[in-house]
Amino acid sequence: MKNSLKKIVIPIAGLGTRMLPATKAIPKEMLPVVDKPIIQYIVEEAVEAKFNEIILITHSSKASVENHFDKSFELEATLEKRVKRGLLKEIKSISRLNVTIQSIRQGEAKGLGHAILCSRSIVGDEPFAITLPDMLISSDKKSSSLLEMKNEFEISGDSSILLGKAKKTEISRYGIVKLSNKKNKRGFRKIEKIIEKPKMNIAPSSLFAAGRYIFTNKIFNSLSRVKPDKSGEIQLTDAIQDFLLNEEVICFNLKGDLFDCGDKLGYLKAIVHKAQEDEDIGKEFKKYIKKLSY
Ligand code: G1P
Repeated sequence: MKNSLKKIVIPIAGLGTRMLPATKAIPKEMLPVVDKPIIQYIVEEAVEAKFNEIILITHSSKASVENHFDKSFELEATLEKRVKRGLLKEIKSISRLNVTIQSIRQGEAKGLGHAILCSRSIVGDEPFAITLPDMLISSDKKSSSLLEMKNEFEISGDSSILLGKAKKTEISRYGIVKLSNKKNKRGFRKIEKIIEKPKMNIAPSSLFAAGRYIFTNKIFNSLSRVKPDKSGEIQLTDAIQDFLLNEEVICFNLKGDLFDCGDKLGYLKAIVHKAQEDEDIGKEFKKYIKKLSY
């Protein structure tokens, strides 16, 4: 396939200060949403979107994330002995996902853009996707936004960003885009401009980058060109703005529900949402929620 897309980068080196003290000794990606850590939902979404290679950009404090996707012989043997077949199947399926997971360290805390740049040696000269592990998306597994973006890239070779709609009060938390009035030849709206965390009064819209991106390899040139911001971080958003000077980026609208799990309220909403879908406890949990609202 001409534009075959196999690799997806997941930057997990961030320290998760918004969820302290819970994240003092536990990576924020390992916080549970019902009975799975957040990162497992993110990895499963990538596997369902048919990516074959996951590249984790990591930090010394995040070893438990790598361990989570590794085989656990002792646990498997114990579950086997105790004839806990359901659990054993579940545990085995995590380490036998149809994907390879590699990791690379981000030695310095120099921002999201720098984290992505760290993946250059593994990504090589291929196009790739990025998924941000804070942003949990709950949607129909067979046609997620990420899968749609991948399918479109494989047809047209167009880079893309997934957009959500922010409330006014949330605008200054995200990368906000301005859309072009023109569509590309395949009918997709193009992005004209992107600004990182603008104040509400200067934001070009309320559409924000919701944590799923696909880029041609040229984004690495932009990432290595942009200067650090005031706090010394290299922003992915600044690199995208540089990339836009020569390249086209189309947008996709979010399908499903999005939860910003880097934030207390978003994290709790994700739990309430997923608990209601849970096979074992969903029914009872819904009853409980109903009772609470009286
Ligand atoms: C990052 C990006 C921002 C994007 C957001 C989505 O911000 O810089 O453009 O909208 O993720 O979660 P962060 O959450 O790392 O501050």
